[in-house]
Amino acid sequence: MKPLIVANWKMNPKTLKEAKTIFSFLERGIKTIKKAGIVLCPPFLYIPSFNPKNSNLALGAQDCFFENEGAFTGEISPFQLKDLKCRYVILGHSERRKHLKEGSEIINEKVKKALEAGLAPILCIGESLEQREGNKTIEVLKEQIKQSLKGISKKKLKKLIIAYEPVWAIGTGNPCPVSEAQSMGLLVKKTLSDSYGKALSEEIKILYGGSVDSENAFFYIKEALFDGLLVGGASLDPKEFLKIVRSVC
Ligand code: PGA
Repeated sequence: MKPLIVANWKMNPKTLKEAKTIFSFLERGIKTIKKAGIVLCPPFLYIPSFNPKNSNLALGAQDCFFENEGAFTGEISPFQLKDLKCRYVILGHSERRKHLKEGSEIINEKVKKALEAGLAPILCIGESLEQREGNKTIEVLKEQIKQSLKGISKKKLKKLIIAYEPVWAIGTGNPCPVSEAQSMGLLVKKTLSDSYGKALSEEIKILYGGSVDSENAFFYIKEALFDGLLVGGASLDPKEFLKIVRSVC
């Protein structure tokens, strides 16, 4: 399976001009890359300006609302994203859990609607430093998976992607030790397998995210056997991002 490398630009860059420059650089670099799938998740506003010509490059969003249309000021529907050629949507990112107080119930609704619209949700899960230090990681991850997928039928879950992103590793330059990440990746697989069966759990891609760079990317894919990576800060530097992609091909 080709690794899936997802670029999460978060609320960056500040101007459309800069965004277009990064995008063109990426698009040129990606031409020679065949052995990885790349997903670019820019801020909503920039999505209509990008029209990837390479089939290895897909568009995604960083969030969506849990209704298809209606009186929901400021929100973006999964159908609107689909209409603008998005194929993926990041949901439950820890920055939204923290700054917008998004909880599992809302995330669960969003996952349902994203799947209904035909998007592949990239569901982010991960423990805080406090939870890790209190030996609560396993419990937290299992609970986040259970709550976020509540009421979703097995056959709808084929498109699901889970990103294990320890909160303490995000944007800190302090990535999760590879062996620890591997154990958590296996725990996610086992939790899925226990609930939905081995066959389906093998179809669901599991990504690692948290301070990924071109020095450590290789180990998460080749040693810890993740199916891909969710890259934040390093994805805004197109040279570094392409280095990451090349290192795992
Ligand atoms: P980071 O962010 O690579 O900057 O740690 C990852 C993420 O938040 O998805």
